[in-house]
Amino acid sequence: MKISFGDLDLAKKGTLVVTVAEDRAFLASAAQVDSQAGGALSRAASASRFTGKFGQTLEILAPAGLDAGRVILLGLGKLADLTEAKAESLGATVYAAVAAQPETHLSVALDPLTGDLTAATFAVRLAHGLHLRTYRFDKYLTKQKAEDKPTLEKVAVLLADHAAAKKAYGDLSALAEAVFYARDLVTEPGNILNPETYADRLKDLSKQGLEVEVLTVKDMKKLGMGSLLGVGQGSNSESRVVILRWNGGKDGAAPVAFVGKGVTFDSGGLSLKPAKSMEDMKWDMGGSAAVVGTLLALAGRKAKVNAVGVVGLVENMPSATAQRPGDVVTSMSGQTIEVLNTDAEGRLVLADVLWYTQDRFKPVAMINLATLTGAIIIALGHEHAGLFSNNDALSDAILAAGKDTGETLWRMPLGEAYDALLKSPIADMKNIGDGSAGSAVAAVFLQRFVNDVPWAHLDIAGVAWSGKDKGVVPKGATGWGVRLLDQLVKSKYEA
Ligand code: BES
Ligand code: MN
Ligand code: ZN
Repeated sequence: MKISFGDLDLAKKGTLVVTVAEDRAFLASAAQVDSQAGGALSRAASASRFTGKFGQTLEILAPAGLDAGRVILLGLGKLADLTEAKAESLGATVYAAVAAQPETHLSVALDPLTGDLTAATFAVRLAHGLHLRTYRFDKYLTKQKAEDKPTLEKVAVLLADHAAAKKAYGDLSALAEAVFYARDLVTEPGNILNPETYADRLKDLSKQGLEVEVLTVKDMKKLGMGSLLGVGQGSNSESRVVILRWNGGKDGAAPVAFVGKGVTFDSGGLSLKPAKSMEDMKWDMGGSAAVVGTLLALAGRKAKVNAVGVVGLVENMPSATAQRPGDVVTSMSGQTIEVLNTDAEGRLVLADVLWYTQDRFKPVAMINLATLTGAIIIALGHEHAGLFSNNDALSDAILAAGKDTGETLWRMPLGEAYDALLKSPIADMKNIGDGSAGSAVAAVFLQRFVNDVPWAHLDIAGVAWSGKDKGVVPKGATGWGVRLLDQLVKSKYEA
């Protein structure tokens, strides 16, 4: 599918989308098309509940007097309330309305807006949202019928200021591709994507301008990563740590660091999960996928920043070589951990990757993403990710980037009282608390491995995948975090 920007031309075949503000206020193009159609659009609107409320659509088939086979009225709501995130969501709505039909050509006619948003920004954001919603993963569907496959070939976004829109769109198209790359990683099943095959895939990213470095088990043993290695030791696939670097900033300037949990499958280990809870656990590498996607996005738009992404790739399996509940492991930091529950493995992986990252790269800030706890889903559902941070300025910047992109977060607490729950009689800490405040306990565990670096932990267990179509995210892997972190870099770290 190709998205282009062009001059307003309402004599288009296929599906034509025109916009309507609240109280059925037809914008210029809608009014013009309506009069060409002898008032059919306004009559259709009056005959329905369509009032131009934000996100409403009304489909009118084969209106007389027009070249278009189908016109869709798109409700913008109050023009002054429009934002970039809302424009993206409208793009997704348009795609959803068209994808249900065997349409090949779509045109979206946009007019000048009142309010802060320019028509060009509105147009590129709408196109971006539409693009994000087109994602599908069908490589393993061998018996798809023609009517189940997407048919849309060309999308033309029409506006007076199309030159500006076209220019601005380049970066966003690269961003959507980075989101898709992350969604692909998350969707791949555990038999295809294991730590070894995952690391091999990432080696290819050097073609996109990233520096890629892979640590093997031998390297990690030398570094003393006993915490991460303990998690992977029950698997037939060897653990890996992969380091991705984008050097678009000043030579030698300290990087911003992103760290990801990449558990390619989480069976729970010997603390085995019940079947129902295990079904989705190929998705337990969603944090790492967000980190990979972010680095790709930065490379894709040649961001003026130094960034490093470090992902810990392991498979958590039960076997004769698996670690046992009660085992004591020594992390790279020197701190010892009593592993009471082998299903609390993400924190064990991150303990070594976080320590390694701050020790080697001395980053200006370190942000980790992880599908870390089921408890964050109990607390926040699928609407917000949990944000834990030792730094208010960093935390505020992340929350703001969340609002801008629609990848929203809610700040959660750290603190001594939670940390005290980690006390172990035999080691420096145990890897679980007493069952209360599960997400905060996991967060203070991580905090023991970050030194004094400004740090944020994003618990994305509830947002890494979606059980239903939702705005710019079709059902399945969301790629959550890529757009957020790209925006964070833009707003806080880029020169
Ligand atoms: N990967 C899971 C967390 C998870 C659960 C993500 C459900 C998405 C959906 C993590 O490794 C885990 O198993 N956490 C345990 C921790 C507990 C044993 C302290 C959990 O949340 O139950
Ligand atoms: Mn687990
Ligand atoms: Zn896990």
